[in-house]
Amino acid sequence: MSLPKNFLWGGATAANQFEGGVFEGGKGLSTADVVTAGSHTVSRRITFTTKEGEECAQDIMPYKGLPEGAVCGLQDGQYYPSHVGIDFYHHYKEDIALFAEMGFKCFRLSVNWARLFPVGDETEPNEEGLKFYDAVFDELRKYNIEPVVTISHYETPLGLANKYGGWLDRRCIGFFENYCRTLFTRYKGKVKYWMTFNEINIMGMLPFFAGGVTQMTPQVQAQAVHHQFVASAKVVKMGHEIDPENKIGLMIAYGATYGLTSRPQDQALAMENTKKYHFYSDVMVRGYYPAYQLKEYERQGVKLEMEAGDDQILKEGCVDYLGFSYYTSSCVSSEEGEDIGGNFSMGVKNPYVKASDWGWQIDGIGLRIALNTLWERYQKPLFIVENGLGAVDKVEADGSIQDDYRIAYLKEHIEQMDIAVNVDGVDLMGYTPWGCIDLVSAGTGEMKKRYGFIYVDRDDEGNGTLARSKKKSFDWYKKVIASDGADLEN
Ligand code: BG6
Repeated sequence: MSLPKNFLWGGATAANQFEGGVFEGGKGLSTADVVTAGSHTVSRRITFTTKEGEECAQDIMPYKGLPEGAVCGLQDGQYYPSHVGIDFYHHYKEDIALFAEMGFKCFRLSVNWARLFPVGDETEPNEEGLKFYDAVFDELRKYNIEPVVTISHYETPLGLANKYGGWLDRRCIGFFENYCRTLFTRYKGKVKYWMTFNEINIMGMLPFFAGGVTQMTPQVQAQAVHHQFVASAKVVKMGHEIDPENKIGLMIAYGATYGLTSRPQDQALAMENTKKYHFYSDVMVRGYYPAYQLKEYERQGVKLEMEAGDDQILKEGCVDYLGFSYYTSSCVSSEEGEDIGGNFSMGVKNPYVKASDWGWQIDGIGLRIALNTLWERYQKPLFIVENGLGAVDKVEADGSIQDDYRIAYLKEHIEQMDIAVNVDGVDLMGYTPWGCIDLVSAGTGEMKKRYGFIYVDRDDEGNGTLARSKKKSFDWYKKVIASDGADLEN
C-alpha cells in the first residue's frame, strides 16, 4: 500500500529545542530559556528570584506553581540547553538542504514568539526577528518544502510570565492576536499551514511550560486554558480573513488509552482518561465546552470567567484540522499496577508492549486506534505532527550510526498509519516525525535522548562541534518518502 502523492511527509522541531541564538537578533527570553537541563531521574527546573531576593529553582514536573512575587530569570552556574539548542539559527541552510535531500515535502518548526516580540506586550515587532524567519521560509520554498508553523510551542515570552503571570491574564489574548496578525501578514504566501498552541492539553499539567502561568490551582489552569481557547479561535478567524488559503489547526498530545483488563471499572477509567484529551479538541473543533467538562469544573469548584461574546468567538474560530503528537499508548487500572510514564501521560505497565529506554511504551497499533478515534469523532483532516523514538545513539569508529531500533519503531507506526488511511478511510494530511534532526529533549533537557535522522555532535553539558551527520535512518526515510510509504524495508 502507499499514501497519496500529495501526502505531507516531513519532520518536526520546535524553536526552543533547536534554534539557539537566544541572545542574537534582538530576541527576548522565553519561558523555555529559564529552564535548566535535567536528566532521566532529575527534573528540569525553572530558575527565579523570590521577592525577598533569594535565587531559587522549581521542578517543572510535578509543577507546584511559583511563590507570589517570583521573577523568573537566569542564574550563574546553571546550564540552559535552549540557549544554543543545536544552533539552527546559524545552520539553517545546511539543515534544510539535508531535509531536501531526504525528500521532505514539509517541515514543521515553531516561531519563537520572543524573537518577534522580545517582552511579549510590544505593539511593534522586532524586524531582525522577522527577517530571520523570512530567510528560513525562503530557504524552504527554494526546495519546495512547505513550512508547517507552530505559533506557540512551549516558548511564551518571559515578560508575559513575569509581568502578567502568563496566560492567566486575559490581556495575553490581545498580545497573541498582535503576534499572529504580524505572522499572517508578513508571511502571507510563504506559510499556509499553522497550528496555534503546541500540545494545548499540557496546560492542564505544566502550565508554566505551556503558557508561562506562574500559579497552579484548578481554577488558574481552567482560566488560563480558556484564554488560550479564545485566543486560538480569534486568530483562526483572523488567519482566514487575512489569507483564505491559510489552514489553521490545533495541536494536542494524544494516545490510545486502554483499560488494563476487561473489568468494566478499568474500561470506565480508560473512558475517563480519554475525556482528558478530548476536552481540548472538543472545544477547538466543535466550538463549545463539552458537558462532561462543565460537570468536572462544577465538582472542582472552578468558576470560569467568560466575557460576553466568548461563546460566539469559540463558535466562529473552529480549526481546519487536528494536529497531534503520538508516541505511546497508555494503560489504566482501577487496581494497583506498576506506574509508567510517557510524553506526560501516566498509567500502568502494559504487559503486551515494549518500552523505550525512557520508559515510553511502544505501540504502533495504538496509532491506528488514535487515528480512527479522532476521525470518527470529528470528521476533520488529521495530521500526525510528532511521532518517534527517543534513544541513545552510538557513533561507530567509522562515524556511522546504525539506528535500526529507530527504523523499526517508525516502520511499525507508518504501517499502522497506512492501514488507517487505506483500510479505515481516515483523512490524514501528513506525517512529521519528531526531532528529524537531533535536538534538546523537552521533557528532560537532554541531548542524548535523540530522535533524529540527522545526528548532531553535542552532549548534555553543551560540548561538541555541532557538526551534522547522517544516521542509517536517513537513507531509509528518504526511500520511504520516495516510494510514498510503499517501501518500508530496512
Ligand atoms: C512533545 C513535545 O511533548 O514531545 C516536544 O511537543 C517534545 O516538544 C516531544 O520534544 C518529545 O518529548 P521529549 O521529552 O522526549 O523531548
